[in-house]
Amino acid sequence: MENKITVDGLTFVPYITREEIDKEVKRVAAQLRDDLKGGNPLFLCVLTGAFIFAADLIRETGLNDAQIAFVRYSSYEGTTSSGHVKQLMGLKEDISGRDVVIIEDIVDTGLTATLMVEDLKKRNPASIRFATLLHKPESSKTGFKPDYVAFTIPPKFIIGYGLDLDGKVRNLKDIYVIQDQQD
Ligand code: HPA
Ligand code: MG
Repeated sequence: MENKITVDGLTFVPYITREEIDKEVKRVAAQLRDDLKGGNPLFLCVLTGAFIFAADLIRETGLNDAQIAFVRYSSYEGTTSSGHVKQLMGLKEDISGRDVVIIEDIVDTGLTATLMVEDLKKRNPASIRFATLLHKPESSKTGFKPDYVAFTIPPKFIIGYGLDLDGKVRNLKDIYVIQDQQD
């Protein structure tokens, strides 16, 4: 794994290796496979951050009848939360009667996740499950609990494996955390 990296003047250190990611993605995929038992769920990948996790996760589920769609809404600017979220966009699929699995990169305040689940429930799916690569429970403002979590992490800013800093570094294969000011 590469060592420290600098992005926009901020220093990041290695945090979760690609091997650890692979292991937890396989674990979550196996849970989904068991819980969905050969059904044809609709995976909803939340753009942009979740696209790499979603690609790996859905391939590991072995659910060949599953379908995938992409949705989008507002996110972070820089390293702080904007505090408000916009509307869900891009969902043209009819989800009524479907087993929906939301795939997110990160749940922190839980505001976006809560809003998304509420919005989707109005469209009468058979079920909604929420899978996230990362969960920062200490940042929660809502008590939202994702059904599937690859990694539970402290409230520090991280990048890589889909997660960005101002749109950059999503391509990193490992996950990096911002270096503490004191070290
Ligand atoms: N990194 C990148 N994007 C994010 C984060 C983070 O830690 N939290 C919410 N969006
Ligand atoms: Mg996101």
